[in-house]
Amino acid sequence: MISVKKTLTAMVSCVFALTATAQDADMDKFVSDLMSRMTLQEKIGQLNLQVAGDITTGQAQDTQVAGLIKSGGMGGVFNLKGVDKIKALQKVAVEQSRLGIPLLVGMDVIHGYETIFPIPFALSCSWDMSAIEEAARIAAKEASADGINWVFSPMVDICVDARWGRVSEGNGEDPYLGSQIAKAMIRGYQGDYSSNANVMACLKHFALYGAVESGLDYNTVDMSRLRMFNQYFPPYKAAVEAGAGSIMSSFNVVDGIPATANKWLLDDVLRNLWKFDGFVATDYGSIGEMITHGVGGDLKRASALALNAGTDMDMCSMGFIGTLEQSVKDGTVSEEAINTACRRVLEAKYKLGLFADPYKYCDTKRRKRDIFTADNRAAARRIAAETFVLLKNQDNLLPLKREGKIALIGPLANTRANMAGTWCVAYTPDKYSTLKEGFERALKGKAELLYAQGCNLMADSLRQRAAEFGKTIERGDDAALKAEALAVAARADVIVCAMGESADMSGECASRSDLRLPDVQRELLAELVKLGKPVVMLNFSGRPTVLTWEQDNVDAILNVWFGGSETADAVCDVLFGDVAPSGRLSMTFPRATGQLPMYYNHMNTGRPVPEGTKDFRKYATNWLDNVNDPLYPFGYGLTYTTFSYGKPVVTGSGRNFKASVTVTNTGSRDAYEVVQLYMRDPVASVVRPVKELKGFSRVMLKAGESKEVVLDITEKELSYYNAEGRQVFEPGKFDIMLGHDSRSLQSVSITAE
Ligand code: BGC
Repeated sequence: MISVKKTLTAMVSCVFALTATAQDADMDKFVSDLMSRMTLQEKIGQLNLQVAGDITTGQAQDTQVAGLIKSGGMGGVFNLKGVDKIKALQKVAVEQSRLGIPLLVGMDVIHGYETIFPIPFALSCSWDMSAIEEAARIAAKEASADGINWVFSPMVDICVDARWGRVSEGNGEDPYLGSQIAKAMIRGYQGDYSSNANVMACLKHFALYGAVESGLDYNTVDMSRLRMFNQYFPPYKAAVEAGAGSIMSSFNVVDGIPATANKWLLDDVLRNLWKFDGFVATDYGSIGEMITHGVGGDLKRASALALNAGTDMDMCSMGFIGTLEQSVKDGTVSEEAINTACRRVLEAKYKLGLFADPYKYCDTKRRKRDIFTADNRAAARRIAAETFVLLKNQDNLLPLKREGKIALIGPLANTRANMAGTWCVAYTPDKYSTLKEGFERALKGKAELLYAQGCNLMADSLRQRAAEFGKTIERGDDAALKAEALAVAARADVIVCAMGESADMSGECASRSDLRLPDVQRELLAELVKLGKPVVMLNFSGRPTVLTWEQDNVDAILNVWFGGSETADAVCDVLFGDVAPSGRLSMTFPRATGQLPMYYNHMNTGRPVPEGTKDFRKYATNWLDNVNDPLYPFGYGLTYTTFSYGKPVVTGSGRNFKASVTVTNTGSRDAYEVVQLYMRDPVASVVRPVKELKGFSRVMLKAGESKEVVLDITEKELSYYNAEGRQVFEPGKFDIMLGHDSRSLQSVSITAE
């Protein structure tokens, strides 16, 4: 046996210097040779993915997981932390299974490993692709230093309904911005797989998961193909083009068929149209859930449907490993279909270099060297500061001076576990600072810091649900906490409120039907405002929330999302002016939850009302009890300076244009501006959105400096996708809009042919 393994290793290690095509040929040969020696059940074993659990080598010998690994019944494991444990498990696969095929070792590394970056939604508000790529690269470096070779990220599901808690894991509402981010993250995670600091990405959740009705998690999705291809599919497609090694299918139905068993989705679109050449894994237990959806009827039939539709790996349903062999005997699944899926999984292992060195990701010396290092933390702090969005800054209250008495009040001010945000499987909260500790460092010797919690997270029985995973905030009676806070605030020159959602009020299964600040926090904030002192609100949130009252009553609002392990220092960097805020919203903030779904790139009805309309118009598309406009539009964000825009100019002809505009920093400090380009096709064969982002540039402008920003418009930007997913260009007039956000724009018309 050992000699077989040695031959495999030798065969692989010599191929790396060859060209890509030669490598492909070698991979084919290697995988074919290996598969020729595999039994049907061993091939099916490669399609099985399980949670490994926290097991040591000794125990591993006895668990079901270890048993499966030894019998060749496991292709991968996930969410096991610790390189020693992982190495032990890999050893079982390599030394104790018949063919010694190494395991994929996955994890939900969503926004960092131990060094935690801001939640993905926050990262998307940086509009900084190099920062996002860097965050992914560091996450991959840390995860791989601890034995992980496969990360379940990026999540690129477009969402236009902030009630959905998983907005926090994605990149907001825009297909263009989402596509740029998807590519940056794939580059960051995967590189070219040549180093053991790169891992395989798993793009998720394919597809349309963000379109669950009413933002209720796992709910039904139903939409036209035109909308799929133009609004929801582009980020998945972009990630595929960037070389995503694997894809996770989604929990929801697409066109009435669970994504897990949707042949149109997995075969026609993903593989045939987009040429995806990696493997598809299900989401957690999705094959089993098909039965609950009402498709398949039992695990055996559901598994056969999933495999035949193009699913390669079964996460946690035990459907493939338990039933496919029988289905082959029964003739409902062909051996060829199993061969195809098995080949894809083996190819992924080959590309990762696991056959050349099964312990490539098990270098136990790396842990100390690469994880939670000073450099990684410095990057996380710098990047976190880029994600905060300044929503309001009355009379330039911010940045605050480090002087006098500053009161820090609110349930998010003194919690360690909540700073990192949702989905951080490997996080080490004890090593992170509370916001209060950050303030103490930032103000030491300069200003007096006063502190009071002020209230619990929320008043009622929902508390428990919002503090999963032990991230509890509650510390006592609300009335007593409020009285204490008001007394503390009365002594202060300025009040900084750390309020909003707890980390687990967003993320998976965290849909909310009322996006206002939770009750007791609202009451406390109103009392604090009544004191008549300047009030700054630091809004912690994993999604857009409703801040209508706050916009009217609070002097300054900085949305800080969940900034990761370095939140505390990053918030201070911006609040006290060492860094000028540069975040821009990647999702619309509504005025009321009832306006949702809400997004800037909507279509016109036959009876639209113009932007900015205040008065109700009967028989037009407007709300009886609210205006149509959002509170803060897509692309919006202030900073500590002001910018002015010159007149935009568009030059070019045919299908190639250049849009340019001169932007000037008219204030007194240096800052980044994100120049945004939108487009509208006002006359087309199908109704097109009122505007769509088609380009942007994040530029640093020194105080007083002017820069010309030039953005390209090509056939791609001028086209849309038809219901078959083919790009269509229709000549004619196009409106090109340039400016600061999706509302503050100047327009130029062009004719493209
Ligand atoms: C989530 C996925 C995640 C998987 C594995 C599921 O519940 O939807 O995003 O990757 O669990 O943990």
